[in-house]
Amino acid sequence: MCGIVGYTGSEQAKGIILDGLKKLEYRGYDSAGIALQNKEGILVRKKQGKIADLEAFIKGERLVGTTGIGHTRWATHGVPSDLNAHPHTSSDGEIAVVHNGIVENYVELRNRLIEKNNIKFDTETDTEVIAKLIGVLHRQNGGNLEDAVYDAVKEMSGAYAIGVVSSNEKDKIVAYRKDAPLIAGVGNGCKFIASDIPALLKYVNDICLIENDEMVVCTPDEVKIYDSSRRPVKRDIMKVNWSIEDAEKGGYEHFMLKEIYEQPKAVEETLLRRIGDDGKIKLDGISLTAEDVKNFSKVYIVACGTAYHAGMLGKYVIEKMARIPVEIDVASEFRYRNPVVDEKTLFIAISQSGETLDTLAALREAKRCGARILSICNVVGSSVARESDDVFYTWAGPEIAVASTKAYTTQLVCMYLIGLYLADLMGTISKEYYDGIVRELMVMPAKITEALKRSNEIEELAKHLYNRTQVFFIGRGVDSAVALEGSLKLKEISYINSFAIAAGELKHGTIALMEPETIVIAIATQDYLFDKMYSNIVEVKARMAHVVSIAKEGNTKIEKESTETIYIPDCADEVTPILSVVPLQLFAYYVAKIKGEDIDKPRNLAKSVTVE
Ligand code: F6R
Repeated sequence: MCGIVGYTGSEQAKGIILDGLKKLEYRGYDSAGIALQNKEGILVRKKQGKIADLEAFIKGERLVGTTGIGHTRWATHGVPSDLNAHPHTSSDGEIAVVHNGIVENYVELRNRLIEKNNIKFDTETDTEVIAKLIGVLHRQNGGNLEDAVYDAVKEMSGAYAIGVVSSNEKDKIVAYRKDAPLIAGVGNGCKFIASDIPALLKYVNDICLIENDEMVVCTPDEVKIYDSSRRPVKRDIMKVNWSIEDAEKGGYEHFMLKEIYEQPKAVEETLLRRIGDDGKIKLDGISLTAEDVKNFSKVYIVACGTAYHAGMLGKYVIEKMARIPVEIDVASEFRYRNPVVDEKTLFIAISQSGETLDTLAALREAKRCGARILSICNVVGSSVARESDDVFYTWAGPEIAVASTKAYTTQLVCMYLIGLYLADLMGTISKEYYDGIVRELMVMPAKITEALKRSNEIEELAKHLYNRTQVFFIGRGVDSAVALEGSLKLKEISYINSFAIAAGELKHGTIALMEPETIVIAIATQDYLFDKMYSNIVEVKARMAHVVSIAKEGNTKIEKESTETIYIPDCADEVTPILSVVPLQLFAYYVAKIKGEDIDKPRNLAKSVTVE
């Protein structure tokens, strides 16, 4: 999705803004641009393609200015092009605007500006409408930018964050947030705005979170925040403990590979924050009492994509351990379903970014119905986190690659911790079982490290399977949830058509697709389901499929019917997903690498999906 960066201070803004934009590349974009304020007015440069294309375009030009805004655009209204790229300007060129999100009533506003104000438009974008509207209001109010922005947003519906500069208000950036991410960065003698923290890490670690319907005004010396009634708001500064290295590749060829290898650390961090020295799970800051939990008639887990796959494990774990019925839904369906949710529902929203619009809308729907909201988020202070009653943070660190890996494994860890915690309060598991699963979790970081040591084997597998056009993933129980995640990883970065199905469902239709040499990745880690799974492998093998099995170390029986077998370290059935996903992530990575795909920024995808 689009990314916004703004800087005002005493240094030249161009390089700082471009640096910031590069750190937002992970969000996905198709064009980029900057606007600088200098004594000649507002200077805009924009280009379709990558930031490198914009840099090449402006190379050799002396673009001065110590205040400016920049943007990476992910096209929604109007094709990716130089013209449609942001910033857009007012008719007199005095005001420039960058924008993330969608203005839903832009056609109406556009028609009105054409009819009443005789405004001419060069593009089909909603952002140009914002720039022209602010321009008209700015002229009408005698040239006050803050007034013009306030008056404009009153007329705009939708979800958006905007950054605005004007040629006649030097050293000032005005920004507004409504349902799209926006933060301000606080430096000594310089201030920033941005869509996400990595854009600022090179320059500042002090951040102010901007809430919905707030305006932020940055000058080199201060950040002022106002609410929707223009009352000043006092906001504490939040210290971000991520380092710039966390947001850089650190010697790895791709962020995705780095993040796969960061999983032992990410899982360890998430565990250590929640498991005390006594081996008990502590949900500090989460105010669920035994009475609350006993009052819940059900749990509803809602998320999108990979986070939804983590939620599927949550269903298995919570139902098995706490014996509370769990429903699970993708957020885009839940919100329009008129779901059966009330004050006896514990609603769990899972979102790495905490900014996914569908998840946020589902959360609001559940809240409206009276549910108790617990969210699992990776980004501190994100919208999902802020709108929840309680937040369970994953400590994965910044996830930059579009394909989620370490956020997923930490989400799995949260599912176990929540399952055990609820079960303990419900009295549905024994102390031995509780302690046993905690022990299994605590050794996961070391076991993921073991699993990663097999990467050469998986790279070899990728070398001889990369040119296949179709891959099936099958599994039973928790393995069927991992199958979905393995399949998503493969399709999103390698563009191979892959498909996941509960193994027992195969014979109800899908087995018709098996042909000689069809690739079937069979996840067979559940001891109690092994015989069933083995029969499914035999079934596809009988149709001459090429079967790659994922099994626990020591389970050599599986080799008899498998073309290839990848082993994961031995562990309890319950926790295998944390390990079995690792070879699947590596397989997707190596296949995409051999095919020469853009692994960290796959086509048509964005990291943080802030539109519906
Ligand atoms: C896949 C992937 C997406 C996200 C989904 C939800 O690798 O990353 O499927 O999981 O868009 O995003 P969050 O977790 O930020 O809500």
